[in-house]
Amino acid sequence: MSRPAVLVARAVFPEVLAQLAQHFDVESNQADTIFSKPELIQRLQGKAGAFTTGSERIDADVLAACPQLRVVANMAVGYNNFDIPACTAAGVLATNTPDVLTETTADFGFALMMATARRMAESEHFLRRGEWTRWSYDMFAGSDVHGSTLGILGMGRIGQAIARRGALGFGMKVFYHNRSRLQTEQEAPLGARYVDKATLLSEADHLVLVLPYSASAHHAIGAAELAQMKPTATLTNIARGGIVDDAALAVALRERRIAAAGLDVFEGEPAVHPDLLTVPNVVLTPHIASSTLATRRAMADLAAQNLIAALTGGVPPTPINGELLKRA
Ligand code: DGY
Repeated sequence: MSRPAVLVARAVFPEVLAQLAQHFDVESNQADTIFSKPELIQRLQGKAGAFTTGSERIDADVLAACPQLRVVANMAVGYNNFDIPACTAAGVLATNTPDVLTETTADFGFALMMATARRMAESEHFLRRGEWTRWSYDMFAGSDVHGSTLGILGMGRIGQAIARRGALGFGMKVFYHNRSRLQTEQEAPLGARYVDKATLLSEADHLVLVLPYSASAHHAIGAAELAQMKPTATLTNIARGGIVDDAALAVALRERRIAAAGLDVFEGEPAVHPDLLTVPNVVLTPHIASSTLATRRAMADLAAQNLIAALTGGVPPTPINGELLKRA
């Protein structure tokens, strides 16, 4: 019996390709080219599965042009690159990689928030430019993290892991806003207080965005929301580009309407809004919140397990549109 063919759309650990090759005819992309939509469609011809990352968009056009496709396995917890209703309508199972990246991503979110509050990038650039000639009483004076109010927008697994760091490690007061309120037993150990978005914006000393991207989350933080924040507050975005209006944020940072921002994700990344590159009070990183070798390997392994299970009669561990499995 011939083996299913799969496309691995971006470069990945060779060990993961080897796992996949035990089950499938694998077309890989170790050159790590970013496929245009026509090229993605062309490479998916005859493929039953695709191992994707956030850079491959699986939408109704792609699905219609690739009728043999049965599963798309994203190596990411976020899946805004998938049109899930279109996948479900086409009978294509979609999977992602939750849980394995939670703690690593929370570590990074907390580190980025701290670097932002304590002006680490700005002061490092100053030092590298040779401008450090003497000590002064208010040099790069930032704002305290310990004992301050941590605001979390999006209280899923990663949001809760950041809240734990803040509450238990740094004595922070935790306010959060989310589609749904946590159970009392989840809130209590963190002392986390569920508030409306306006209260979150006006009370947070350090606001961290961890909500998934959706059309309704587009520009959830724009000029109006930034205006509600304290002028001393910081904003950290490790969620998705597009949740923040980057142009409005650059204006707010330049005019010091908020103190500083830390951004790991950007609208239209890898392009970065040019105004963000010229304001000093922002820490910029290239979408690396989940990037430790151990976690990226765990994500790749989980994506591979999903693909293998879906195409060999097993149960994929982390389906998104799992209703398709019940139908089968
Ligand atoms: C995710 O998993 O969604 C990350 O943003 C990709 O590294």
